[in-house]
Amino acid sequence: MQTEALRLRQMMKCRTGPASVLAIASGKGGVGKTCIAANLGTCLAASGRKVLLIEGDMSLGNIDVILNINSKYNLWHMLSGRKSLEEIIHLTPEGLEVICGVSGFEQLANLNEFQRRRLLNDLSRLQENADVIIIDTASGISKSAIGFCLAADDVLVVTTPEAPAMTDAYATIKVLAGNRFAGRISLIVNMAETIAQGKKTYQQIARVAKRFLDVHVYDAGVLLRDERMIAAVRLRKPVVLAYPKAQISMSLMALAAKLGNGLATLPSGKRFFKKVVDWFF
Ligand SMILES: Nc1ncnc2c1ncn2[C@@H]1O[C@H](COP(=O)(O)OP(=O)(O)OP(=O)(O)O)[C@@H](O)[C@H]1O
Ligand SMILES: [Mg+2]
Repeated sequence: MQTEALRLRQMMKCRTGPASVLAIASGKGGVGKTCIAANLGTCLAASGRKVLLIEGDMSLGNIDVILNINSKYNLWHMLSGRKSLEEIIHLTPEGLEVICGVSGFEQLANLNEFQRRRLLNDLSRLQENADVIIIDTASGISKSAIGFCLAADDVLVVTTPEAPAMTDAYATIKVLAGNRFAGRISLIVNMAETIAQGKKTYQQIARVAKRFLDVHVYDAGVLLRDERMIAAVRLRKPVVLAYPKAQISMSLMALAAKLGNGLATLPSGKRFFKKVVDWFF
């Protein structure tokens, strides 16, 4: 019996194709994208998946702070030939692989054909070797943020119940729809005062997106405002590790389980990096 259980577990971990790609986006800044990305990545890695978290935000990125990473290297160091792919990947104690502050993509236009091919080969290897890739994109509707989202299988838009954040979340969904994004769009409401307020926020955005854009926005859930999220950032730890029994941690674990299952049902995120590279030309 025990052997069967073990076999099943191994089968469930078996990968059948390249990693699925989840991009975390928002219009407005400071709504909790990086906190959510770090916690989801940690939960998914703890569940046995091979997860790569890429910070797509160079100027304001702070994933290194939240995950207590002292990595000085990013994708640009690899692009310029100064570091290998392995050297720019940081591994957290929970087994989450992280690439910090990816400013390199904007420089792609300067590469020659040989460099571009080499880069694509290396990046494709990343996708072949992971189960899930999470991209923490920059706030706003910049070219790079949209490029990452359009290449992903699933875009998780983060908003808060405040009107400016809602308007900007809708604007992000509108740009995705305008660019004929073919993947799934989910919305998570963070820093809600109550679950009811969070649900209402989701319904308002989903209704408008359906009516004016004919886009179905999936409900990824509600995260309440919780002082422990702020305390965990101060401790430089994901809240799911710093306060595993807190309500916010339970909600994040549930979200990770839901997203993990959802990603498994999506068609494999083929050639994510090829799409990203093409976008920058
Ligand atoms: N549920 C929450 N409850 C309380 N505070 C929160 C919550 N989620 C995030 N925060 C706080 O909000 C701050 C900003 O979060 P975070 O850096 O993840 O936002 P962001 O969307 O990535 O910002 P940026 O747009 O600058 O990248 C965090 O430092 C954290 O303290
Ligand atoms: Mg951020």
